[in-house]
Formats: sequence, C-alpha cells, structure tokens
Amino acid sequence: MGDGRSDGGNTFMRRYGPWALVAGASDGIGESFARDLARRGCHVVLVARRETVLADVAARIRAEFGVETRIVVADLTSPELAATIARGTEGLEIGLLVYNAGAIHGAARFLDQPLASTLALVDLNCRGPMTLVHGLGPAMRERGRGGIVLVTSISALSGSSFTATYNATKSFDLIFAESLWHELAPAGVDVMAAIVGATRTPSMLESTSGFERYPGLMEPDDVAQGALSALGQGPAWVAGKDNRERVKGLFPLPRTQIINAMSQAVSGIYDIPFETVSGRELAEID
Ligand SMILES: NC(=O)c1ccc[n+]([C@@H]2O[C@H](COP(=O)([O-])OP(=O)(O)OC[C@H]3O[C@@H](n4cnc5c(N)ncnc54)[C@H](OP(=O)(O)O)[C@@H]3O)[C@@H](O)[C@H]2O)c1
Repeated sequence: MGDGRSDGGNTFMRRYGPWALVAGASDGIGESFARDLARRGCHVVLVARRETVLADVAARIRAEFGVETRIVVADLTSPELAATIARGTEGLEIGLLVYNAGAIHGAARFLDQPLASTLALVDLNCRGPMTLVHGLGPAMRERGRGGIVLVTSISALSGSSFTATYNATKSFDLIFAESLWHELAPAGVDVMAAIVGATRTPSMLESTSGFERYPGLMEPDDVAQGALSALGQGPAWVAGKDNRERVKGLFPLPRTQIINAMSQAVSGIYDIPFETVSGRELAEID
C-alpha cells in the first residue's frame, strides 16, 4: 500500500481511513502503530488496560499529528470485550484494525505453568483477535474497503520448548490472518499477518534482563511502519531483512498458492463459489 508519504497519506486514508483502532496501543509496537497511523492521517482509537498511560500517548499523538483520538480502557482477555469495544467505538467509522497485544513475559515448560495463565494467553491471542475482527469486520466488508493487521511472531512458525502456548496461539493468528486474507480480499478488505521477530519494547525489556543483548533487535517504529506499508500486498509480511531470510528457509513453499488450493478444495466440498486471490509471498514483501 506504500508508506503514505508520497501522496500525503491520501491513498492510505482512502483505503483504511478515517479511524483506525489499535489493540494494545499504550507502549511498544502498538504505540508505534498508533503514531504511524496518525502520521498517515488516521484518527486513532487506542485500546489497552492502563488508562493514564493511554491518555498520555493519545495526548502526544493529538499534539504532534493533529488527528482525533479516543481511548478505550479494556482488558483484551475479558469476556466483556465485544461489548466494551462496541461501546467505545460507537459512531466511528473504523477502517483499519491492528491487533497488536500478545507477547509473553517469561518462559517455562507447559506443565509447570498454571493452566489459568496459559488459557489467558489463548484469550489474548485467539479470542481477542476473533472478537475484534468479528465486531469491526462486517462494516468494512459492507463498505468494500478496510484493513486488518494481526501481529504475530516468528514463534508462530514452529513449536518450541518453554513457549508452547505462545507459539501455538501465534500460529493461530498467522493461519487466521491467511484465511481472512482469502475470504475478505474479494470484498476489498486487506488482511495481513505481521510476523515480528525480537524487537526492543518495554514489555520484552522488562521480561528478561538479557533481552537488550539479543542480536539484531528491531525498533518498534520500524516494525509498525513496515507493516503498514506492506498491508495490501499479501497475506503475511515478515519484519526485517534478517528475519525474512530466516523465514525463507522455514517456509519454502508458496503460501498464497497453498491458501488458494486449500480454499478451492473446501469450496468444492461445500459447494461454495471460489475465487482465486493473488498476492506476494511473505518473504518477498520489503
Ligand atoms: N517485542 C518482541 O520482541 C516481539 C517479538 C515477536 C513478536 N512480538 C509481538 O508483537 C506484539 C507486541 O509486542 P510488545 O513486545 O510490544 O508487547 P505486548 O505486551 O504484546 O504489547 C504491549 C501493549 O499491549 C497492551 N496489552 C498487553 N496485554 C493486554 C491486555 N490483556 N489487554 C489490553 N491491552 C494489553 C499493553 O498495554 P497495557 O499494559 O496498558 O494493557 C501495551 O500497550 C505482540 O503480539 C508480540 O507477540 C513481539
């Protein structure tokens, strides 16, 4: 979709404006998404749990970019999430959803973790994105335009000791985004998984003292800007050149062909009309 700079953000705004909602917007990559969306001209709804931090981020965005903001204080794992978001976005035309929150803060073997905390991660990374897409997606489809970015991780690409639930839920986000990409492209709505690698965020810096020394850490602004520029080009995008190289080896088969083939197979079984969707491969989008 481009970086929005060459045309003052107009193409981006026509496709994804006037309002964007960022879930998990009070710091890290989510704050960077909110700021970059405002830079492109979008009004922004910021969702997170810490009200004073959210209000502060929103005030800085208004002052710097002259857009409108609204804050919604919500826990994305709450059973009340759908109602809270519906109330918080009443009267707004949301053209873009970024579901960003979802990191883990520590690592341990699955059986050594309380079941409740692993199920809370399922709520955050599976129920949350499903709830927001289901709440905001229908209006996008009716308008025939819009965008949805689900932030996932390189951890989505394989299983791993110590982060089993994280990997599995991030894999859910990747596959969910790929599926929605195919379903919603004919309706003019762009869906993309943003596959993120190690990034210098408050959340990760607080979770382990060694994180600062992790090789090749990315900056949150680069991840957010890259994702928004890649939106509309394919079902998934990988943040950072080094990560893209790694993913090429992990994902040698063309995803868009596989998604089309699987969609065609299912449409054949259930007698649903099928439409081929074209897009670029995840490691080919800069
Ligand atoms: N940083 C990395 O190295 C890295 C690597 C790979 C993938 N990622 C992915 O990138 C995304 C962002 O990661 P991040 O490192 O910036 O940290 P994060 O903890 O996923 O995101 C922080 C933001 O999410 C909000 N948040 C967290 N839990 C929430 C909840 N239950 N309800 C509402 N808001 C919540 C936080 O605000 P409040 O505390 O105010 O609620 C804050 O605004 C995640 O999906 C993560 O999996 C990150």
